[in-house]
Amino acid sequence: MIRGGFRKSLSELIGEELASLTPRSFDVVGNIAIIKLPESLLPHKQAVAKALMSINRQIRTVLLQTSNVNGPFRLRKLGWIGGIRTWETVHKENGCVFKLDLRRVYFSPRLSYERMRVARQVRPGEVIVNMFAGVGCFSIVISKNSRAEKVYSIDINPEAWRYAKSNVLLNRVKDKIKVLLGDADRIVPSVLKGIAHRVVMPLPMLSDKSIPAAVEALRPEGGIIHYYTHLSADRSEVLVHSAWIKVRSLIGDSVSLIDLKEGRRVRSIGPRQYQVVLDIQVRR
Ligand SMILES: C[S@@+](CC[C@H](N)C(=O)[O-])C[C@H]1O[C@@H](n2cnc3c(N)ncnc32)[C@H](O)[C@@H]1O
Repeated sequence: MIRGGFRKSLSELIGEELASLTPRSFDVVGNIAIIKLPESLLPHKQAVAKALMSINRQIRTVLLQTSNVNGPFRLRKLGWIGGIRTWETVHKENGCVFKLDLRRVYFSPRLSYERMRVARQVRPGEVIVNMFAGVGCFSIVISKNSRAEKVYSIDINPEAWRYAKSNVLLNRVKDKIKVLLGDADRIVPSVLKGIAHRVVMPLPMLSDKSIPAAVEALRPEGGIIHYYTHLSADRSEVLVHSAWIKVRSLIGDSVSLIDLKEGRRVRSIGPRQYQVVLDIQVRR
């Protein structure tokens, strides 16, 4: 989220020169704003929090992000710097609500378009496996916005699993989603083999390693895999092509057909670093 008024409001508190050092963008998840600050602004973090809350009434809590997303659960360090002292909130998106604790689970509001883009492709009666589901965002957006028959929603983080279960109830999609706790690479081959029309893999860090499980989840006649990956490139135009070359070499000769239906840059994640998605048709 980018807010011109934020710097203006902050400059009234700490002066224009310092205020100009703040990043222009920050995320808002439910009632919580998350911001990163350069070293020079850390002594002014309370003023930053005050300015953020003054420009947007929705923001009741401000958290300072002090690490990148890391570890198997994809968590980041978030320190409280203003407003109500909480890390839990309810975020609204695509006609759905997601309750979550930002310290304990992964969530990005920046994937909102992507979640709906996938949901729009789902045909009536489809069975879907979401291998890295977090608090259930893709699974719930799909269930609420399509006529999918069933979504299997897997996560290895017990806290994400717990929130996913309560989000399924909050969104009244209990009959359409089965929430599973564990390692998708083990769960899929043991209980979800050959059942899916579509597999969602929203964890770029693991998607390469988990491709064999994704292919195993597909029905014998094949289906679609939404494959997310991170790539670096000087020109963003080459990203889809590079991702396609990579995924073809990974799947190799293990399938009878592989075809690229669509590919797009999802977002920039650093200097010359991007998240990319490919929608791949695969026949086993
Ligand atoms: C990037 S987040 C998922 C984002 C989510 N789909 C969304 O839209 O908010 C990746 C998730 O994968 C989970 N994860 C990591 N390794 C896993 C594994 N082996 N099996 C299942 N889930 C895993 C993490 O706990 C994390 O919640």
